[in-house]
Amino acid sequence: MPGIRSSTRSSVSDLVISHRAEAIVRPDRTGAHGVPVPVVDIEAERIAKRFGDTSIFADLSFRLERGKATALVGANGAGKSTLLRCLMGLIPVSEGRVRLLQEDATGARAAKLRALRSRVGLVSQKHNLVPRLSVLSNVVHGLLGHRGGPRHWTHSLAPAASRTAALQALDKVALGHLALRRADRLSGGQSQRVAIARAIVSRPEVIFADEPCASLDPQAGEDVMALFFDLARQDGVTVVFTSHNIDHALRYGDRVLGLAEGRMKLDATGDSLRSADLRGLYD
Ligand SMILES: Nc1ncnc2c1ncn2[C@@H]1O[C@H](COP(=O)(O)OP(=O)(O)OP(=O)(O)O)[C@@H](O)[C@H]1O
Ligand SMILES: [Mg+2]
Repeated sequence: MPGIRSSTRSSVSDLVISHRAEAIVRPDRTGAHGVPVPVVDIEAERIAKRFGDTSIFADLSFRLERGKATALVGANGAGKSTLLRCLMGLIPVSEGRVRLLQEDATGARAAKLRALRSRVGLVSQKHNLVPRLSVLSNVVHGLLGHRGGPRHWTHSLAPAASRTAALQALDKVALGHLALRRADRLSGGQSQRVAIARAIVSRPEVIFADEPCASLDPQAGEDVMALFFDLARQDGVTVVFTSHNIDHALRYGDRVLGLAEGRMKLDATGDSLRSADLRGLYD
């Protein structure tokens, strides 16, 4: 319906004060003779996680480079989501050390952890949008950890710069025209794209995505994955994602880590693997 669309557009454009994107500068370190040394954004050193007496994983060590996408695969219950939450500092590890963005996330004080998390984005299987609020307000929420304060609860209270950033993020997921629609009036694919906009609005340096397209039909899932990785690569974001879709893991993962029986049973580059190589993880 062109009439409705254009009227929505004009009310959205009223909200835009300035539409200039800030460039993100994420230099690699330069070593001897000017050769770039890859920066490690996430480092796990002999980490273990237990819930009570139950060991979920133990003795995991890996280093994930800036700007790369890592797929974390494994059977249901293998511990993928738990590992993501440990890497983000949402839950503590039982042993070992996690470094996130060159900061020690193990045992960090709450304020330091909050500051670290504000540099990190999260996309989960359930998009967790606030249903009664507008799409734009939901994206503004992505700035809560960053700029903070109750002015970020709804788009109408948010400072102009925050609304502008949210609109830019919505444009990137091609949903600028739905900015004022209630979140509960969206399709599953649209909701997940809004969740991606909410995750990227604060221009995170690292994004953790836990089964970002698991609840979508195959076509919407393909679209969401392609869009998500386009955006992440454009901004040089470091991504760790879980997926039960082996094809996605191999296609979008520069590196693939496989968890089984509490150990890292696979660590390889995506392009060196075929789907048959992953079968052992699901036995
Ligand atoms: N807070 C918790 N307390 C106790 N056990 C937990 C807790 N969170 C997860 N677990 C257990 O840890 C194990 C790993 O769960 P996790 O959700 O990390 O697996 P997953 O690999 O993400 O599985 P899926 O593919 O189904 O998402 C499971 O046995 C789960 O029951
Ligand atoms: Mg999980």
